[in-house]
Amino acid sequence: MEMDKLVSLCKRRGFLFQSSEIYGGLNGFWDYGPLGVELKRNVKDAWWNEMVRGHDELLVHAGAPSTYEMTGLDCTIIMHPQVWKCSGHYDLFHDFMVDCRESKKRYRHDQVRGRWVSYNGQRIFVGTQAEIGHEEEDTQHRALKFFNLRAKDAERLAWEGDFISLTKVSNFAEVLAPDAKTLGTLTEPREFNLMFKTYVGALSGEEGAAFLRPETAQGIFVNFKNVLDSSRVAIPFGIAQIGKSFRNEITPRNFTFRSREFEQMEIEFFCHPSQSRQWYQYWRDRRYKWYLDLGLAGERLRLRDHDQDELSHYSCGTADIEYAFPFLPSGEFGELEGIAHRGDFDLRSHMEGKLAKDAAGNLAVELGEDGKPRHRGSGKDLSYFDDQARERYVPHVIEPSAGADRATLAFLCESYHEDKVPDENGNPRERVFLKLHPRLAPIKAAVFPLVKKDGMPEVAQKIYRDLKQHFNAFYDEKGAVGRRYARQDEVGTPYCITVDGETMQNGSVTIRDRDSLKQWRVRGDEAVTEISKLLRGTT
Ligand code: GAP
Repeated sequence: MEMDKLVSLCKRRGFLFQSSEIYGGLNGFWDYGPLGVELKRNVKDAWWNEMVRGHDELLVHAGAPSTYEMTGLDCTIIMHPQVWKCSGHYDLFHDFMVDCRESKKRYRHDQVRGRWVSYNGQRIFVGTQAEIGHEEEDTQHRALKFFNLRAKDAERLAWEGDFISLTKVSNFAEVLAPDAKTLGTLTEPREFNLMFKTYVGALSGEEGAAFLRPETAQGIFVNFKNVLDSSRVAIPFGIAQIGKSFRNEITPRNFTFRSREFEQMEIEFFCHPSQSRQWYQYWRDRRYKWYLDLGLAGERLRLRDHDQDELSHYSCGTADIEYAFPFLPSGEFGELEGIAHRGDFDLRSHMEGKLAKDAAGNLAVELGEDGKPRHRGSGKDLSYFDDQARERYVPHVIEPSAGADRATLAFLCESYHEDKVPDENGNPRERVFLKLHPRLAPIKAAVFPLVKKDGMPEVAQKIYRDLKQHFNAFYDEKGAVGRRYARQDEVGTPYCITVDGETMQNGSVTIRDRDSLKQWRVRGDEAVTEISKLLRGTT
């Protein structure tokens, strides 16, 4: 599937718009339109209902070491600045960037790609930020310009190897930056903290400085004790949260995949240290299954365990659920969700102060040059006391952390289909349809009167109103019925109901299935029951 087609459908049919578009847009920010908001809400509801509200704490779920409880939370976006000092985000949450002295543009060091080329004894690295599929065209065009050659001389350029990341290039004097005309205009890579800074209250100096949260997770850690004390949950249990996070990404790109404002769906699961490996395995498999069940089955979805050298210093296991997005080079996957074993790092950091590995390789409070903790913890006791075992310990944490926007984008990419169907005269017609899982589809059923007369609109409107009591439905009486089907296919509506001449005689209506195109008749007063049954059958 070509990404351009999906992007255009999303805009045309009201799934996604660029933020502040009438003012030229704001890079890295996206608005969800009337259908997009329904789709994303269905993704979040599917997550919340399955992980939290619908969770059965009396059952041992398949693969789980024991029963467990789940509860929810909704924390603020701005929190005490000390939270980010103890979590490590203040010191460590950065990317490397390079600036171009000529174009004044800024790029993420690892995201500038390029290729070596030689001509007339000179060898240069041509950097590009062009979208996948346009890289070759862009680098060729710029190399020709740089060497003062014409298009017909392209064969005189000697290209070397494949596109590689700028991180693999050591001599920046040989680099032609993505938007530059001269060589060597890039600065050396520098650290750039990704947290958005703001000021709280009337204090504009550092005293009032605060940050927009870069993840929802920390709100859960700092409320661990509150939840324990107020809800009678016992370990093992999980706290879930869905909410906005903000990262000042250097180069937001690939539609909503890397945005500066996005939503996360995170669980912090607290367990006994001796059981944490089993719980890690459970969550890793459980979360993968969630995507499979909602339609991401196939070779484009994978579960990848991190290599030992990729793991954080406190983690004894991390796995990513990844999807082969169409905007990535062939064979590459993008992260949808990470499932991390975080040990007791977070709770201990918020108790004692920011932890780091000491000389002996153990986690200990990081000290500053004055020998005092570099970032003081809250000093509050965040340990857990097990009444029955009479044991006190700091729980270990398993963190399944997903992005609501990335999941929504993956479901959109996966669902995009094109085929040919017969039109009203039996001739083949091109069809675009979103094969969304009915649970995720923004509209569950559309109702059409075949014509706008003979009492058909009244009957169709009655069915539409009945459907609306149960789920999102749509009524359409404008244009040829084939065109109305096509419009619903394009936004992924799984079922269409048509009221026609036969309805007026015997009360039956047709139901049409989006994927198989099968049509069958049911009694009009049973249409709601029939659609509900069909939707339930797919959940
Ligand atoms: N608490 C752990 C954490 O935040 P992460 O891997 O940085 O881990 C988790 O983020 C998920 O959030 C990612 O797997 C991705 O789905 C989503 N995410 C992260 N940065 C994002 C961005 N700039 N735009 C959209 N989604 C993003």
